[in-house]
Amino acid sequence: MDSIVQFLLLFAVGFIVSTCSVSVAATTTAYPSIPGTDSSDCSLASEDNDKLIPPRREVYGNGRIFDISHRYVTDMPAFESNDGIGDFLWLAKSMKNGSVANQSEMKLPSHTGTHVDAPGHFYDHYFDAGFDVDTLDLEVLNGVALLVDVPRNKNITAEVMQSLHIPSGIRRVLFRTLNTDRRLMFQKEFDSSYVGFMEDGAKWLVENTDIKLVGIDYLSAAAFADLKSSHLVFLEGREIILVEGLKLDDVPAGLYSVHCLPLRLPGAEGSPIRCILIT
Ligand SMILES: *[C@@H]1O[C@H](CO)[C@@H](O)[C@H](O)[C@H]1NC(C)=O
Ligand SMILES: *[C@@H]1O[C@H](CO)[C@@H](O)[C@H](O)[C@H]1NC(C)=O
Ligand SMILES: *[C@@H]1O[C@H](CO)[C@@H](O)[C@H](O)[C@H]1NC(C)=O
Repeated sequence: MDSIVQFLLLFAVGFIVSTCSVSVAATTTAYPSIPGTDSSDCSLASEDNDKLIPPRREVYGNGRIFDISHRYVTDMPAFESNDGIGDFLWLAKSMKNGSVANQSEMKLPSHTGTHVDAPGHFYDHYFDAGFDVDTLDLEVLNGVALLVDVPRNKNITAEVMQSLHIPSGIRRVLFRTLNTDRRLMFQKEFDSSYVGFMEDGAKWLVENTDIKLVGIDYLSAAAFADLKSSHLVFLEGREIILVEGLKLDDVPAGLYSVHCLPLRLPGAEGSPIRCILIT
């Protein structure tokens, strides 16, 4: 993906000291299939510092809120790389070294992990005109959304799109594919055989549906074979927003309220994004 301008996000993140209250622990749901999720019961944590265990969850509010963003970890895949994203976060100031607080810094390509594409990603004149992630419509990124399962034996072609019978009026769709079954977002090595939209599938969506938010479960909404052409079809009208690298594991298909918030990065054609589904 040579056209990616790799924006460096460099900002200090105040380290949050996690404490587990009994009320937090009560809603913990075990999702053992997601690496890093801690299903342990925080209420067991004692006052002893060594035993404080912060909750790491996929689901909140007694199953009402699903976190569909991936954790940013060094071993998560990076586009066309075998090495994962690598080290991107470090402790720049530490209490152990006399600082008043622990303070981390990070440096990350803007299309890392769960992220959003702005029109400038594949259109140079849109980039130059300033169609960056700060200009994306939050109304498109937040609202009623349909999570659908795509047939597992094909890329998303016009024929597949047609077969999904997505009702008109549906403006936000998250497409769950074979990528989720294959756990590609949990694999360090980039896999170009991921499922995505073929050009005719993207065209069909643009011409025959009201969909403006397209969500997908690997690093690109466009299949590798149609990487450029499918992106061009989606982004040309500057109305469709692509949210890529979603974590759709263990979430029932159906209607939700989706909430996706990119960072406000003027000049960036991509941004990490936090997305949740609420039932
Ligand atoms: C601050 O960072 C140090 C590493 O230098 C770590 O051992 C310590 O637990 C951190 N302190 C707090 C309060 O998070
Ligand atoms: C603390 O400072 C020492 C000496 O400058 C350095 O080697 C070490 O990596 C620092 N540790 C942290 C956690 O910043
Ligand atoms: C989808 O397309 C990719 C090429 O972009 C190909 O490698 C892969 O086998 C296709 N997947 C399916 C399920 O047809």
